[in-house]
Amino acid sequence: MKEKIFIGVAWPYANGSLHLGHIAGCYLPADIFARYNRMKGKDVLMVSGSDEHGTPITITAENEKTTPQAIVDRYNIEHTQNMKQMGISFDLFTRTTTANHEKVVQDIFLTLYKNEDIYKKNVEAFYCSNCGRYLPDRYIEGHCPHCNNEKARGDQCDECGKLLDPQELRDVKCKICGSTPEIRTSEHLFFALSKFEPKLLDWIKDKKHWKSSVLKFTQNWLKNGLKDRAITRDIKWGIKVPIDGFEEKRIYVWFDAVIGYFAASKEWSQNKGEPEKWEEWWKNKDAKHYYFLAKDNIPFHTLIWPSILMGYDETLNLPYNIPANEYLRLKGEQFSKSRGTAVWVPDILEKFDVDAVRYYLSINMPENKDTNWMWDDFVAKNNDELVGAYGNFVHRVITFTQKNFGEIPKLGKLDDLDKKTFIKIEEVLKDISKSIENCSFKQGLRTAMNLAQYGNFYFDQKQPWNLIKNDKETCGTVLHICLKIVNALAVFMAPYLPFSSDKIWNILGHKDSIHNVSWDHALEDLKVGTPFERPIPLFKKLDIKDFEGESNPFSKFDLRVAKVLDIKDIPGADNLYMLHLDVGKLGKRVIVAGMKPFYSKDELKGKHIIIVSNLKPAKIRGVKSNGMLLAAEDGKGTCSLLNPGESSPGSEVSIIGIPREPVNVLEFEDFKKVNMVIGDKQKAVYNRKVLQAEKGDVVSDKTIEKGARIL
Ligand code: MF3
Ligand code: ZN
Repeated sequence: MKEKIFIGVAWPYANGSLHLGHIAGCYLPADIFARYNRMKGKDVLMVSGSDEHGTPITITAENEKTTPQAIVDRYNIEHTQNMKQMGISFDLFTRTTTANHEKVVQDIFLTLYKNEDIYKKNVEAFYCSNCGRYLPDRYIEGHCPHCNNEKARGDQCDECGKLLDPQELRDVKCKICGSTPEIRTSEHLFFALSKFEPKLLDWIKDKKHWKSSVLKFTQNWLKNGLKDRAITRDIKWGIKVPIDGFEEKRIYVWFDAVIGYFAASKEWSQNKGEPEKWEEWWKNKDAKHYYFLAKDNIPFHTLIWPSILMGYDETLNLPYNIPANEYLRLKGEQFSKSRGTAVWVPDILEKFDVDAVRYYLSINMPENKDTNWMWDDFVAKNNDELVGAYGNFVHRVITFTQKNFGEIPKLGKLDDLDKKTFIKIEEVLKDISKSIENCSFKQGLRTAMNLAQYGNFYFDQKQPWNLIKNDKETCGTVLHICLKIVNALAVFMAPYLPFSSDKIWNILGHKDSIHNVSWDHALEDLKVGTPFERPIPLFKKLDIKDFEGESNPFSKFDLRVAKVLDIKDIPGADNLYMLHLDVGKLGKRVIVAGMKPFYSKDELKGKHIIIVSNLKPAKIRGVKSNGMLLAAEDGKGTCSLLNPGESSPGSEVSIIGIPREPVNVLEFEDFKKVNMVIGDKQKAVYNRKVLQAEKGDVVSDKTIEKGARIL
């Protein structure tokens, strides 16, 4: 039987778009590992899905004034699509709201309850009398007792990674209304984590192969003694507690999510029509289980999940390795959905080739320390390494061979350098294999890049452009060897850069996809005489100029609410109005706007609109226009003003998470860089985030199509 490898990848909360921190943190390393192992002939089962319960979801829903269901439906679709586009090759990407998941979670819950690994206990919980509700997890904020972070949540501190009980926080505030909550007693169910301490200590004894950071973190926890943890919450969204008396409570999201690995394996088997197939991974002692996640998820995977498994069924496999990554940061700030500073996957997919992004994330992977996403470094590494070294080598070899031979030439007599080159390819194969098997993905990619550089060196040494003139046979030998390097590189790069590897593979005349061939094909003999496909450029050079202000062109804007005081025609201008505005603290001013075909004077009078107040003034039809109003246009004849509701004139319009750093005078060029559109529910959005005025969201005044541009 083929060797089995199970790969579990942390389930992303379905409460916002994926950002590059997610990809670098776990999805990309997991995918590299999965692709490599499949090529090595292993039977890989890689699963994950949307994490759709808990306060992350309900808070997002409340902020957006919609239902949790609408939120998770939206992001499950988006995540599923983005994973596919990024080339993350899951065998199943499901969600925690399936009937199967609920059944598996409740079954495990009941088994643990019967074994008394889950028990009832009265606890003091925060209750906000102002909001009239209990406040679980993310509904409270306070000082972390361990690291003094002032914004620790009720269940975990993001800064130091420690899990918390809400009562441990100091200076607790209700996140909904800001008041100080009171403490009330209520009955909850607890997971007896402390009971598993001896077993866990025994289990991690032979985990010498773990990353030292993961091992240390886990040992530290064990040293300090494990505490039992509440696994029910006062919340209405989540998996029902299958025990009488807990109808108003739900299972804690983390307890439900980790079980997803097991539930998803069962779902995958059912989908395949072999409902018992999951046992080949979970009950077969030779199968190895790998879990990929970022550092804040470590305790859930090294302590809690193994304990749940031990308590549920002794025959199930425990994790073999948990190569957790550190964080990818954006210029020093952690990529974070909640804080709003991020490079979003849907945006990046629109602008760049996936392999270019995968290359930079792989070569810059936060394996042992935090790393930064830096736009200039992304451009430099793309241009110098991906295009300059790898792409260039492949391109010059293929175009030169195509032009002078049209097919794979045959191998003649070998000199020392040629022989050394064959040995080099074999060594590289061993090195990369070792690196990937040890989850040192960065090192594996460096070794592959080193072979590309070597290829360029070999090509330059041999000077085929001279050989072709007087020694075509030797020239053919040189090119044959170069093509062997290209062939090997396509295989070595396949786990990292799956799309370009496949292209190269086809250019070399292989009919199959590279993802169906085995790793050893890197060393295969080339078929002499195979005709070439036309080479196509593999990677594109990037220009740093295209990124200027990439961090946040929107920051420069000074958007303000203005009230329309008066409207005048401009003689000879059919479409234009001259609008007299009150911009509160900024005083009164005049702007010229092409609103005449869409709004009557009566409709406009007294209206609250939004203007770009710092736009460089311009003369239009002889009238000085001091700013520009925001309106959305769908290209079908509808034009709609943006509506800030009752917000008062002069108040600022912003986006939560994007710093407001307005320049004195905004140049028109900078204005054009920002592409705002209309999103769901007629809301004005920039990079998927909603524009907000003093009193609520900025919406479109008339019904207008989603995606309509704001001008
Ligand atoms: N949704 C969690 C997060 O984003 C990760 C859950 S991992 C799981 O931090 F295994 F529990 F699903
Ligand atoms: Zn409150």
